[in-house]
Amino acid sequence: MQRACVIGWPVEHSRSPLIHLYWLKRYCIDGAYAKEAVRPEDLAEFLGSLGAQGYAGANVTLPHKEAALRLAAVVDEAARTIGAANTLWLDQAGRLCASNTDSYGFITNLNEQAPGWNEGRRPVMVLGAGGAARAILHGLLNEGASRILLANRTRGRAEALAQAFGPAVTVIDWEDRERALSGCGLLVNATSLGMTGKEPLDIDLAALPSEAVVADIVYSPLETRLLASARARGNRAVDGLGMLLHQAVPGFERWFGIRPEVTAELTAYVAATLGEK
Ligand code: ATR
Repeated sequence: MQRACVIGWPVEHSRSPLIHLYWLKRYCIDGAYAKEAVRPEDLAEFLGSLGAQGYAGANVTLPHKEAALRLAAVVDEAARTIGAANTLWLDQAGRLCASNTDSYGFITNLNEQAPGWNEGRRPVMVLGAGGAARAILHGLLNEGASRILLANRTRGRAEALAQAFGPAVTVIDWEDRERALSGCGLLVNATSLGMTGKEPLDIDLAALPSEAVVADIVYSPLETRLLASARARGNRAVDGLGMLLHQAVPGFERWFGIRPEVTAELTAYVAATLGEK
């Protein structure tokens, strides 16, 4: 029996078990997927004995994503560039390998829900400069986005990101985010604003072209105020749940040997746990 887990502190809130247990059942695999609450000071020991505990690999969530990267023996390009790991596995030699599948999840979902989003090669605006924004910049640049306008409340964090990703990323002031929407082909909210319990994202979309796509990484609620106002003015809207589901695919394939599908049934199943369909 193959086993995997999600490691976090706390870990209770993680939706990864829901997704992986659904797939285990769907593909009739004799496997298990557990939640492991691991304190930061215990992470090295936990990962050092992952195989001995019977695990083929793991997902990593807050606050362990950066530490897991440092502890891995083999790191892929995505995890190195993003500076954090969310997916771990043991190779044939028993070495701990790390990847970050957030940019894959974001781009796969964007291509699926808004095909042709980059056809006009227009600038993309990304709001936020945390770990999620970093993964999204990596994905967008790999996918051929020619120019990214990056706005963050704390400008210094955006500048640090722009420096890491090179001249395609231009920092703009948080206060200029509405004006700079003019001419953009895609707007991405990579902040936590709009999430249940947080303030909504305050942005007037008036300057955004009607062909532009609006994507939100927030998936609870599924229909954020940002997405509702995008839809109301005729923009295509991409919710954050698809990213969550797609980022889980590469890990499942590594641990259990089958590349699982993100279907409408899985989406509805997980959406139902968010309090809406
Ligand atoms: P993650 O790693 O999930 O991206 P994070 O590092 O905490 O999480 O980043 C959260 C993002 O939401 C940041 O860009 C943050 O802006 P700051 O860098 O200025 O903190 C943004 N954010 C959170 N609350 C905000 C608020 N009230 N107004 C504007 N931006 C906010």
